Amino acid sequence: MALRYLTAGESHGPALTAILEGMAAGLPLTEETIAEDLARRQTGTGSGDRMAIERDHAALLSGVMEGLTTGAPITLQLMNRDHANWKGKAVPAYTTPRPGHADLAAAVKYGYTDIRPSLERASARETAARVAVGAVCRAFLKPFGITVDGYVSSINGHAACLEGMTFRDRVARARRSEVQCPDPEAASRIIASIEQAKSQGETLGGIIDIVVEGVPVGLGSHVNWDRRLDARLAQAALGVPAIKGVEIGNAFSNTGKQGTQAHDAILQGSSGFERRGDACGGIEGGISNGQPVWLRAAMKPIPTTRKGQDTVDLTTGKPCLTYYERSDVCPVPRAVVVLEAVVAVAIADALMEKLGGDSIAEMKPRFDTLRRATLDDTRMSGQPHTFWP
Ligand SMILES: Cc1cc2nc3c(=O)[nH]c(=O)nc-3n(C[C@H](O)[C@H](O)[C@H](O)COP(=O)(O)O)c2cc1C
Repeated sequence: MALRYLTAGESHGPALTAILEGMAAGLPLTEETIAEDLARRQTGTGSGDRMAIERDHAALLSGVMEGLTTGAPITLQLMNRDHANWKGKAVPAYTTPRPGHADLAAAVKYGYTDIRPSLERASARETAARVAVGAVCRAFLKPFGITVDGYVSSINGHAACLEGMTFRDRVARARRSEVQCPDPEAASRIIASIEQAKSQGETLGGIIDIVVEGVPVGLGSHVNWDRRLDARLAQAALGVPAIKGVEIGNAFSNTGKQGTQAHDAILQGSSGFERRGDACGGIEGGISNGQPVWLRAAMKPIPTTRKGQDTVDLTTGKPCLTYYERSDVCPVPRAVVVLEAVVAVAIADALMEKLGGDSIAEMKPRFDTLRRATLDDTRMSGQPHTFWP
């Protein structure tokens, strides 16, 4: 893989840090480039009180000189404002594991005597660092005309009606919606259900759609499992906390169709191949086929609920109810930008791998030759072969 990143930091620690390695040299990059995505992660109905405390800002500590990336590892650091409220304070031991969180499994695995260490690192506060990394990758994709956008298509079973809406329309409408949903009617039902869940001490999950436009033919490969673009996107999406399912294209509804109905017919258009539909999500055999790449991610209702859930106190071994600590009610709208970020990283990685080269200047001309495949470019001789002679 061409690009890799690591994040570090605890939810209430001093800072979150990310190091992104492998980014091409010559990309214009400032802290402002990252600010918009970070702000999007902090807004929306269903967010908890923590978002009122934080004003996320990523400082660029390395890998950028005079506003351009140098090819060296890029360090991004986000200070946690809430740290000041926790530093040096005695925090009561947390010993009642929440079903659905890392609490119990991590305590057993690492031998913790208090749930706090796993809670601090498993917390989705870490996704702020991923959004910063994703913003850098989004900036990298921009000069190649590749965009990554998403929206909420359903929360708590209230599904948006998207018929007749182009993808661009969906995104534009979602950005105007406080729950990132393009259908205003579904959005009001969603807002009402979030309000109700809040009053009941419950949480809600939903589905997020992500579309990548402008992807050239040839990212990823069929030659080995870990080079497949679909597998790489699925890993990136499932790496986001609370994302429990990923569908590439119409994966689940295709299971109810016959083979001749489930695929995108290949047509000869005026300037190259055209496809009838995009049911396969722009990926065939693990390789991008020049159509928009799209996927859907299922986010579960998050585990921290104000209403207690059955658990066992790890100090007494006795049954009890979960302890509630400040939390979101429905972070699905906020998770749209997180999914966009991890997808942007996976696409940037596959593009860099395809183009080779160390700088934008080296990659640009290579990309320009990677235009949509034409029939003439792929004309075959039709001669018979003798394989493995
Ligand atoms: C943007 C975002 C915000 C989240 N906020 C919360 C939260 O406030 N409370 C909570 O219990 N879980 C929250 N989660 C989910 C937990 O981090 C996640 O469920 C937990 O780490 C266990 O991991 P798993 O659900 O992937 O198994 C959030 C997830 C995301 C992506």
